[in-house]
Amino acid sequence: MITAYDALFAALIAPEADIVLVGDSLAMSFGGHSDTLSITFDEMIYHTKAVCRGAPDSLVVFDMPFGSYSSAKNALENAIRVYKETDASAVKIEGGAEKAEVIRRLTTNAIAVMGHIGLMPQYARQSGGFKVQGKDDAAVEKLIADAKAIEAAGAFAIVLEGVKANAAKSISQSVGIPVIGIGAGSDCDGQVLVWSDLLGFFEAFKPKFARRYLEGATLAREAIARFAADVRSGAFPSADESYI
Ligand code: KIV
Repeated sequence: MITAYDALFAALIAPEADIVLVGDSLAMSFGGHSDTLSITFDEMIYHTKAVCRGAPDSLVVFDMPFGSYSSAKNALENAIRVYKETDASAVKIEGGAEKAEVIRRLTTNAIAVMGHIGLMPQYARQSGGFKVQGKDDAAVEKLIADAKAIEAAGAFAIVLEGVKANAAKSISQSVGIPVIGIGAGSDCDGQVLVWSDLLGFFEAFKPKFARRYLEGATLAREAIARFAADVRSGAFPSADESYI
């Protein structure tokens, strides 16, 4: 699974990724915010429409933004909006057993749900930052109980973020649905990365778990500098690039 926020990158990602996630990480890696909490529902809808246009045959997952699933009632109303206004196939919800009722309300109303436990970025302000989870036995037991509750509520997959590798293995093995890891070691069923981490466009910081497959920002900066130099020297546009 790879995130996308626009049609151009969705089209690049779609042929290789089993799932395209319109993550609320777009607040940070696209919108320049310091956490994910400020993204609005309308902004998520706008970006999801673009992703669906770029990846029309993909399983696109809409990340429910902060505050949009605080009760089963508003979760259902908002998730119905996602299905009516976009072509996304599923929604993602952060939270463990305490969100089981919300997840069940959606799955029993024909909405496919992906769970998200471990490090949950929407809890960052409450918990004082982005902290690795599953550090002791009690925490791992809680995460296993969360994964089982999410599965029992009808979710089709779970994102497991920022969890020690051994703990992630136990959590993955405790449920039958796919567990997709990010910063959760190699023993999950799948892996997800944010596109701008994967392609090296996000430079504010590099999470330990991310691997850059391209130095995107460096390449883009060099190309932009070449364009600027060519304009200043008169080398761009050439006769071939002009209507004569
Ligand atoms: O918002 C996001 O991009 C996510 C992934 C990191 C799983 O939730």
